[in-house]
Amino acid sequence: MERQRKEQHDAQKKSDNRQLSRRDFMKLGIGTLSALAILEVGGASLFFMKPRSLEGEFGTEVIAGPAESFPAGSVVQFPDGRFFLVRSQDGGFLALYQRCTHLGCSVTWEADKSRFFCPCHASSFDFHGDVENPPAPKALDTFPVTIVNGQVLVDTGHSQARDTFTQNQLVYA
Ligand code: FES
Repeated sequence: MERQRKEQHDAQKKSDNRQLSRRDFMKLGIGTLSALAILEVGGASLFFMKPRSLEGEFGTEVIAGPAESFPAGSVVQFPDGRFFLVRSQDGGFLALYQRCTHLGCSVTWEADKSRFFCPCHASSFDFHGDVENPPAPKALDTFPVTIVNGQVLVDTGHSQARDTFTQNQLVYA
């Protein structure tokens, strides 16, 4: 009798263990699937939040887009290319490196004040990148611009230093 009870007890214990391990396995499976789903959604969000230029990125030749898509007097930022494409009132293009010529912080375009501003030590630059307010010692550097088949190309692999803006720096379609 005692032996029979012990056998019953052992059988019950085995069954409990089996159920427990099945339950644990299910929990583990659900946990793993949830973690994968979170990673996938997070990865997708990061992809869409990433700032993008039309084509190309810093250090390469960036295709900024068709010349006619940039109105006269416009400033368009290309975060991946680290430059601003400026189109003067007479239609000339200039690609300004976003790096401040003082100590290298990134400038921002303030449309309401029509200036580039450096948040580090308050240098500012005019529409063509000339120094308006020091300590920046010289105009923002530029990148070579070419226009091929109506497309504006900016070579971000070769920055060009300059003291000031001159009219011959503008490139026309
Ligand atoms: S780095 Fe721009 S003002 Fe100093």
